[in-house]
Amino acid sequence: MIRYEVGDGIAVITIDNPPVNALGSGVLEAIEAAVARGIDDRSVQAIVLIGAGETFAAGVDINIFTTMTTREQSLALSEAFHTSLKNIETASKPIVVAIHGNALGGGLELAMSCHYRIALSSARVGQPEILLGLIPGAGGTQRLPRLCGVPFALDMCIDGKPVPASRAHAAGIVDQLVDGSRDALLTGAVALARARAGAGAIRRTRELRVAPQDVHAALAACDDRRAQLGKTSTPLLASYAAVDAIKAAVTLPFDAGSARERELFADCLVSTESRALVHLFFAEREAAKVPGVPKGTPVRDIRRAAIVGAGTMGGGIAMTYANAGIPVLLKDMDDAALQRGMATIRRNYDASVAKGRMTADALERAMGLITPTTSYDGFDAVDIVVEAVFEDLALKISTFGDLGRITRHDCVLASNTSTLDIDALARASGRGSNVIGHHFFSPANVMKLLEIVRGRDTGPETIATSQKLAKRLGKVGVVVGNCFGFVANRMLLQYLRESYLLLEEGATVAAIDRVMTGFGMPVGPFGMEDIAGLDVGARIREHLRSSSGAGTDWPESEIANRLVEMGRFGQKTGAGWYRYESGSRTPLVDPLVDTLASELSARRGIARRVVPDEEVLARLSTALANEGARVLEEGYASRAGDIDVIYCYGFGFPRYRGGPMFYADTVGLRTVLARIHEYRERVGDYWKPTPLLEKLATAGRGFYTT
Ligand code: COA
Repeated sequence: MIRYEVGDGIAVITIDNPPVNALGSGVLEAIEAAVARGIDDRSVQAIVLIGAGETFAAGVDINIFTTMTTREQSLALSEAFHTSLKNIETASKPIVVAIHGNALGGGLELAMSCHYRIALSSARVGQPEILLGLIPGAGGTQRLPRLCGVPFALDMCIDGKPVPASRAHAAGIVDQLVDGSRDALLTGAVALARARAGAGAIRRTRELRVAPQDVHAALAACDDRRAQLGKTSTPLLASYAAVDAIKAAVTLPFDAGSARERELFADCLVSTESRALVHLFFAEREAAKVPGVPKGTPVRDIRRAAIVGAGTMGGGIAMTYANAGIPVLLKDMDDAALQRGMATIRRNYDASVAKGRMTADALERAMGLITPTTSYDGFDAVDIVVEAVFEDLALKISTFGDLGRITRHDCVLASNTSTLDIDALARASGRGSNVIGHHFFSPANVMKLLEIVRGRDTGPETIATSQKLAKRLGKVGVVVGNCFGFVANRMLLQYLRESYLLLEEGATVAAIDRVMTGFGMPVGPFGMEDIAGLDVGARIREHLRSSSGAGTDWPESEIANRLVEMGRFGQKTGAGWYRYESGSRTPLVDPLVDTLASELSARRGIARRVVPDEEVLARLSTALANEGARVLEEGYASRAGDIDVIYCYGFGFPRYRGGPMFYADTVGLRTVLARIHEYRERVGDYWKPTPLLEKLATAGRGFYTT
C-alpha cells in the first residue's frame, strides 16, 4: 500500500491503495513508518508524499466507521489518527505533500499535518465528513482554521463541499499550484522539498495561531454559525459539533483542542444520524452493481440523444442532457407545443442565471445543444431516444412502434413512464433488448434519482449503458423491476393512500404535512400532491384499478377523487388540498377539505377523533416499510439499500434517517410488525404484514441486521 523510494536526497512515499487511496487499516501507520525511515536515513534531506493513480487520498476508509460499535472504540480510533499525524508533523525533516485528484477528509487532514502542500490546479480538497454525519476526527477542525481562518473552515466542515485547489491556495491551505500532469506535480514537489531542506525552520500547522489578529471576530463567526444552524429546519448533530470543535481551536491550545475534537467526533460516530448517512454512502455505490450485469459489460457511447415530448418532463430531460454537454433533438407534435416547451426551458435557465447558478454564456451553450423539431429527421443518427409523451399506454405503444422503425439497431430506446409496462413498449418496438425505462423525477433537471426499469428482455448492455449515462447526467441510477409504479411510485401510492385515510379518521391536511416535514421530508404528502398535480395521482389510481392483478385489496378514500372532480388539481389550478392566492405558492388551509373528509367519514361510519402526531408518523412510515418489504420479496428491487436510495433521492426522505427501510430497522421490525397487527385490528383488513417483514421481525432481525 505504501512505496518508499529515495533519489538524490529526497524520499518519495507513494500511497498505493486503489481505487481512491483510502486510509484503511494500517495505511496511516505504514506512512508513519515510511516517514520514520526517511528521518533515520542520513542520505535523505526531505520527504515527498504523493498518491498513486488518479488521486491523493479520499479519506479514512469509511468501512472502518461501520465497525465502531461503542463510543470508547470511536474515541480510540480518533486517538490513533491523532497520534500518527502528530508523529508525522513533528518529524525533523521537511515533508511536502503533492495533491492531485482529491484530498478529502482524512486525506486532507494528513496533508495538513505535513509541512508544505503543493497541488495540481485540477485537484480538490475538502472535509466532507459532515455528509457522513461526522466531523473531521484526525485534527482537521484544529489544523484547518490555523491555515485558512475560522469562517472558511466553518464553511468547509459544515457544507462539506470540496473546494478547487485554486480557492484552497488563495485561502492558505495549499502553498503552491502546478499545472499539468501528476508527473509535473511530482517534479514540482521534489523541487519544493529540496528548497525547504536547506531553508531552516520547518513550518508546522499545530504551531500556527488561529486568528492571531482578531480572536473576537473568530469567536463571533462561530456563534453566528451556531445561531444560523438553529434556524435550519433539521440541523445535524455533526453541524453543531463542527462549530464547537472549531471554536475549541480558537479558545484552546492545539492538544486540548484536539482532545475536544476527539470527544465530539466520537459522539457523532455512534449517532444514528451518522450510521444512516454511512449506510446511504455504501447503498448508493452498491446500487451501481446490478445482478446479471457483470463488471466489464460493454457500454455504448452516448454522443447524441433525442427526446420525444416537449412537455414538463421532456423539457427537463432535454435540459439534463444539455447540461451534460450532449446534443439533443427535442420533438413534439406541432410548432406551438415545441415553442411552449422551448420557452419553458429558456425561462428555467434564465432563473438559474438570475440566481447566479449559471453564466449567461453557459445558458446559450446549453440552449444551442437543444434542437427543436416536429419530425423524426435525425433520429437515425442518435444513440438514445427518451420517450416522454403523455402517460397513455396506447400513445406510448405507437411511439415505440415508430422508434423501432426509424432508429439505428443499437439505439437505446428509453421510456420516461412512471407506471406503465415496459414489456408492452418493448414488444411494440420489436427491439426488446434495447428497451428500458428511464424514470426521471420532477423537475427532471433537478431531482437526482433515475429509476432504471429493466424489462423482461432488456439486455445487460442497455442496463450498463443506462447506469453509466446516469452518472454522466449527474443522476443516481437505480435499476428496478417492471411492476406497476416500479419501486418509487408503488411505495408512494401506499404512503398517499394512508394519508387520505387518516383524513377520514380525523387528522387534518395541515397536521399531517406538519408531522412529515417535522420528520425531515421537504414537503408533506398533501403539499407534494399539490405540486405534482392531483390529476396525475387520480390517473395512476385509475390505471391501478384497471390493471390486472393489482389493487384487489385497495381500499381508498374517495376524497382525492372528489377534489379532482371539482377541478382542484393543485397549485396549477389555484386549489387542491390547499388553496392558493393568485400568483402565490403559499399553501392556505381550506376548510372545504375538512368538510369533505367529515362527510366521507360519516358515510363510512368512521368516528372522527384527534389523531396523535406519533400515529401519523407511525402509520405513514409503516406503510412505506411494509410495501418496501413486498417490493423486495417480489424481487422488483435487488436490495433494501436500493429502496432507501430511491426514496431519499426521489422524494427527499431525510438522508440522516437512512431511507424508509433503514428507518424501519431503527424503529425495530418487531415494533413495525406489532403496529401492522394493531392497525389491522383497528383500522382495516388491508393492513397485512409482508411475509418477509414478518419473517425478519419474528427472527429478531432487521432489513440490515442479522
Ligand atoms: N473509504 C472507503 N471507500 C471509499 C472511500 C472511502 N473514503 N471513498 C471512495 N470509496 C470507494 C467507493 O465505495 C467505491 O467503491 P466501489 O467501487 O467498491 O463501489 C470506490 O471507492 C469509488 O468511489 P466512487 O464514489 O464510486 O467514485 P467517484 O469517482 O464517483 O468519487 C470520491 C470519488 C472520492 C469523490 C467519492 O468516492 C467520495 O466522495 N468519497 C468519500 C470521501 C469522504 O467522505 N471522505 C471522508 C472520509 S474521512
